[in-house]
Amino acid sequence: MGEICVIGVGYVGLVTGVCLADLGNRVVCLNRNKQKSDNLKKGILPIYEPGLEEIVRRNLAAGRLEFTTSYDEAMEEARFVFIAVGTPSGASGEADLAHVEAAVTEVARRIHQPVTIINKSTVPIGTGDWVADIVRENMPDASVPIWVVSNPEFLREGSAVYDFMNPDRIVLGSTSREAAERVAELYYPLRAEVIITDLRTAEMIKYASNAFLATKISFINEIANICEALGADVLEVARGMGTDHRIAPHFLGAGVGWGGSCFPKDVKALAHMAVTHGTNPSLLRAVMEINYDQRKRAVTKLRHILGGFRGKTVGILGLSFKPNTDDMRDAPSVEIIRLLQYEGAQVRAYDPVATENARRLLEDVTFCSDPYEVAEGADALILVTEWNEFKQLDMARIRDLMKQPVLIDGRNIYDPRRMRELGFVYRGMGRGYDETGQPR
Ligand SMILES: NC(=O)c1ccc[n+]([C@@H]2O[C@H](COP(=O)([O-])OP(=O)(O)OC[C@H]3O[C@@H](n4cnc5c(N)ncnc54)[C@H](O)[C@@H]3O)[C@@H](O)[C@H]2O)c1
Repeated sequence: MGEICVIGVGYVGLVTGVCLADLGNRVVCLNRNKQKSDNLKKGILPIYEPGLEEIVRRNLAAGRLEFTTSYDEAMEEARFVFIAVGTPSGASGEADLAHVEAAVTEVARRIHQPVTIINKSTVPIGTGDWVADIVRENMPDASVPIWVVSNPEFLREGSAVYDFMNPDRIVLGSTSREAAERVAELYYPLRAEVIITDLRTAEMIKYASNAFLATKISFINEIANICEALGADVLEVARGMGTDHRIAPHFLGAGVGWGGSCFPKDVKALAHMAVTHGTNPSLLRAVMEINYDQRKRAVTKLRHILGGFRGKTVGILGLSFKPNTDDMRDAPSVEIIRLLQYEGAQVRAYDPVATENARRLLEDVTFCSDPYEVAEGADALILVTEWNEFKQLDMARIRDLMKQPVLIDGRNIYDPRRMRELGFVYRGMGRGYDETGQPR
């Protein structure tokens, strides 16, 4: 088995293990589910991530990549152990570290040679010290040296392989500079900037980064709402702002807001840490509140047009929290669909890859096999996820299939004028008024 062991085969663990194997390392990925492990050995992936399957198969064939459910096997030759298990939200918004604790305890019990434990999961500030304590308490021989390094992950689902291979920076935090440098060597082929800090600072860099990105989106959504009230177009505002190098164009897309496996739980966890340690995270609270309101706003726009949802059929285009992933964790679509159903709407929906995951979360939704089927007999459509395939639909056909052509563009992917020319009652997010004084 490999000298690199990765615990957890989700979006972060699988990508990390597979990409490290692709860089020439011998890697073993551990996960607790035998079916998942057996599938992975055949190159069948538990998640959808563009480009990943091919790299899995290539590295399986090269004999550099192995999958196991046995900690004994995984730890046999391990010198580097990456922890990449989930850290979901706990009851009060804190990060739940049960999976980290379980994984680290199992690892510690099998340490017989010097090991560097690298934490890739997003964990509260101070977790690195806690992990080191757990390891020392559970090691069979406490004289064997161990090191803990915090190595927060910044990859984006949907472009995870590219992001892993082309990172903006590698952050490594540790009480031991040598340990951090040993981990840096694993990343050497990527030629990325390496930032070495203490443990707590590295952990904080991850939370601060996610909170900032979420803030940027909530900021532009607040501006979008003001644009809408005052007649300005947020798309042009964002373009005008984003060309300023101090601001940058990314994360200035107004719409139904952020979701997913990271921003919601990480902003919540950071706010929770702040409160627990006696500071007042008023900005973070506003960022979360604005985000939640955006989901409701799309529904409110439609209610104004339809006059209510009882007896109405609403089609949803896109279910995953963003394009190019099947991840449904905290996806805006779920909230929007539940709000619509609560007010009596029948919902039809389509997503290119997330339907199976969505079925487990949503009841009484008719899942369709393409966007045109969603449109059939619908009183309105809401575009929730901006998959590329929605950008070039035959909108005249869509219009003809609908009972009435009402379109809420939750990601501003369509041209308002063209949609109106086609006969749609169209509303974007924050698009102000057109030259005739109509809301865009
Ligand atoms: N998904 C992202 O885009 C992303 C980006 C950066 C950081 N992160 C962080 O990385 C961590 C993992 O996220 P993810 O999206 O990959 O999660 P995930 O839910 O997709 O995967 C978690 C994996 O851990 C496994 N696991 C849980 N407990 C285990 C145990 N005791 N032993 C072995 N395996 C165990 C699960 O079976 C699963 O394979 C989280 O802390 C997350 O915040 C995620």
